[in-house]
Amino acid sequence: MTSPRNYVLPLTVALAVGIMVVMFGGGGADGESATAELKALGSSTVAGKATFTATSDGKVLVNADISGLIPGKHGVHVHEFGDCSAPDGMSAGGHFNPDSHEHGAPGVTAHPGDLGNLEADANGRATLSLVLDQVTLDAGPLSVVGRGLIVHADPDDLKSQPVGMAGARIACAVIMDDTGDTRPVVQAK
Ligand code: CU
Ligand code: ZN
Repeated sequence: MTSPRNYVLPLTVALAVGIMVVMFGGGGADGESATAELKALGSSTVAGKATFTATSDGKVLVNADISGLIPGKHGVHVHEFGDCSAPDGMSAGGHFNPDSHEHGAPGVTAHPGDLGNLEADANGRATLSLVLDQVTLDAGPLSVVGRGLIVHADPDDLKSQPVGMAGARIACAVIMDDTGDTRPVVQAK
């Protein structure tokens, strides 16, 4: 008969590996996700959602499907606060920028919240798929969970400071963790 003691070592190793995966998960534990359901601001009719998913190489994949837009380009950013209470969306604060970078394009050293532009088709629908390597879904200063997602009326020129001349805020969402994590929404003090 096999002694129960023979299971102790393999179980200990499995547990240790599991803990290390959780601790060093980079963009969040692989497959962890968060969702942002947009609500229209002012007279806009923008609707849709974005999902943020942690990838196995420690980045965050954003996928968005948004409708009700005027055809053409619209700036889209992660903003500092998960607060969509103001009718003009200004309660979401400025671009998410924990390390004091300049505003710019996604994929370069700029605000980690700079997602560039949505490009709406003739029916006013836009999709976006983008990998972010400067943010995480895990708790901490680089987490986008609990922050705001803002869609703008105008194109982001990807260079003007501080916000790319993207104009009015036409939709706002709070980025919410899907894993049951009850971290509070990030709000202005
Ligand atoms: Cu913005
Ligand atoms: Zn920016």
